[in-house]
Amino acid sequence: MDLHILDHKLRVTSISKNGLVNFTHPLIKLIFLRNRTRCKFFSLTETPENYTVVLDEEGFKELEPSEHLKVEGSIWLPLNVVSNGNASSSSQAVGVTKIAKSVIAPLAQQHVSVFMLSTYQTDFILVKEKDLSVVIRTLEEEFNIYREFEGESVPVHCQDVSVCLHKNGKEALQPTVHPVLIPQNQFCVMSLDPETLPSIATTLIDVLFYSSSPKEDTSSSSADQDINCIKFFSFSLIDGYVSLVMDTKAQRQFPADLLFTSSSGELWRMVRIGGQPLGFDECGIVAQISQPLADSDISAYYISTFSFDHALVPEEDIVSVRDMLHHQRKEPAAS
Ligand code: ARG
Repeated sequence: MDLHILDHKLRVTSISKNGLVNFTHPLIKLIFLRNRTRCKFFSLTETPENYTVVLDEEGFKELEPSEHLKVEGSIWLPLNVVSNGNASSSSQAVGVTKIAKSVIAPLAQQHVSVFMLSTYQTDFILVKEKDLSVVIRTLEEEFNIYREFEGESVPVHCQDVSVCLHKNGKEALQPTVHPVLIPQNQFCVMSLDPETLPSIATTLIDVLFYSSSPKEDTSSSSADQDINCIKFFSFSLIDGYVSLVMDTKAQRQFPADLLFTSSSGELWRMVRIGGQPLGFDECGIVAQISQPLADSDISAYYISTFSFDHALVPEEDIVSVRDMLHHQRKEPAAS
């Protein structure tokens, strides 16, 4: 299998809810006016706390410093696994489940903190630039590693001989078990032809920038604010591919014929991980969720945001996932 270190230097930022009005101008440019920016990696996720924006340096230039903008200090590099069509894996699972054992667990064992961004098309594993030598050393046994640079893929090996790996990483790791929340919304993971972005522009602007404004033409504005649901909407435009994650309520606002999802059209339920904001230095959070999912061969998308992590699992598996997570939380240190 091949692992690509993509040619993007990313920043992880958050915009406060109140501060969004100060950023609509650059965000509209980054989302809709592709010929006016050289940004190639852009992702925006609304959660109840804030808006998480992950973007490359070209995109980051568009965001003016502000008290409403928080910027994580590191440069993050996206990794991407490309399976070169070997049919050896019997698993049908998709998403982070596919890379739980080969990428996520080994990195956690080496105390590498990751930031996950699953999309409709693929899963990006973001690692801090400063951890790159450890990442390469850790994964080079399992993968052919390539670094993409100006459209070329160059094979890489760990040059840094001073990097030594934790031998007994497994025992050394005793991760904090974070509380989880399972909201009632059903989610879909979708895509669309970027050429048709203009035709959903008004809906997307409405959903992204005005979701909390009351609507004039609906009588039941507060009645349908289900307290057991969570606000979560994610849009990404990465290397020309659009991915959207939204709940079924938001989905109904979009024209039905433009967005597409996988043929089975499945719905997903969310597990939000974290009681307090998770920060960016802790490792093993993605691992402790994705490992058991991989053991049970349950597909999962995984989206980290500035404050919390979010796993999406198939609706029909949510009961077993909930039981598994409760079990993990009852006996954290054991097993
Ligand atoms: N760093 C965590 C890990 O390695 C995942 C990200 C958690 N932090 C966050 N702000 N979402 O498992």
